Amino acid sequence: MRCKMVVISNVSPCAKGASIFCFGSKSNPDYPPGVKVRHLRSLSIFFGVFERARWPPMNLVKSKQRVADHGEVFTPAWMVEAMLDLVKEETERIDSRFLEPACGSGNFIVQILKRKLAAVELKFGKSEFERQHYALLGLMCIYGIELLADNISECRANVLDVFSEYLNIDESDDLYRAATHVLSVNLVHGDALTMRAVDGQPVKDRPPITFAEWGYLGKGKFQRRDFRFDVLTGSSKYSEEGSLFADLGKHEIFTPIKTYPPMTVRELAALQDRNEHGQN
Ligand SMILES: C[S@@+](CC[C@H](N)C(=O)[O-])C[C@H]1O[C@@H](n2cnc3c(N)ncnc32)[C@H](O)[C@@H]1O
Repeated sequence: MRCKMVVISNVSPCAKGASIFCFGSKSNPDYPPGVKVRHLRSLSIFFGVFERARWPPMNLVKSKQRVADHGEVFTPAWMVEAMLDLVKEETERIDSRFLEPACGSGNFIVQILKRKLAAVELKFGKSEFERQHYALLGLMCIYGIELLADNISECRANVLDVFSEYLNIDESDDLYRAATHVLSVNLVHGDALTMRAVDGQPVKDRPPITFAEWGYLGKGKFQRRDFRFDVLTGSSKYSEEGSLFADLGKHEIFTPIKTYPPMTVRELAALQDRNEHGQN
């Protein structure tokens, strides 16, 4: 199976609403575009009893108030693994794109990155240049949205920890600061329902969420094109069979709002340095 994007989430307490959507997978009849995998409850009942025993206990709740206000119950590690196994092939592809629209502190995103990095090691472990650049590409293909400021900060930090540990780098390294920049773009502090970013401003002034599509051009250069999230999600219904818009060319739907010139790791790191010094 090869999808355009996998959307994976546990958006409600007790994983009752846990789901996986695969968009744009036309080749495999088992996974038509937009399929929703609903059998998470049976997974948890039949499979979970045995699986739970293999994993260390985790704190799944920060406070009762946060559960009541935001449905914040984190997904246990064994269930994250079981869900990711439902789309195993995609999780092991370096350039498959994943979106977690209620990402919390990154329980899914971190594991997806670990699987991608394992694929990088297998494929590019012998060349340090390729290993570093493809590890960054893997990171670039992971997206998240989270409403609460502390969760999104934790999420960015957790993902960065895994990335930097794998490459054995720290803040003094361009690659570390390039990854920090990518995470500040890809892991959005926002509201997945209104599809608007949250940054302390009144609701009416919140900007629409945009996502960067990153691509690796080779020879150390990355390409970035930005798209509006609301347009991307709206466009999935256009491609439904029989839809009034089914005949529209992809170019009419997937028009970026901004295309950047190709950038190296050093240039991405410089963007992070400028952000840190408030020079956007
Ligand atoms: C059930 S928790 C799941 C967290 C994470 N996906 C996991 O499985 O561990 C739901 C998360 O969604 C966040 N959330 C709630 N409403 C949201 C919204 N409208 N947009 C984005 N995130 C939201 C909560 O803050 C919380 O972190």
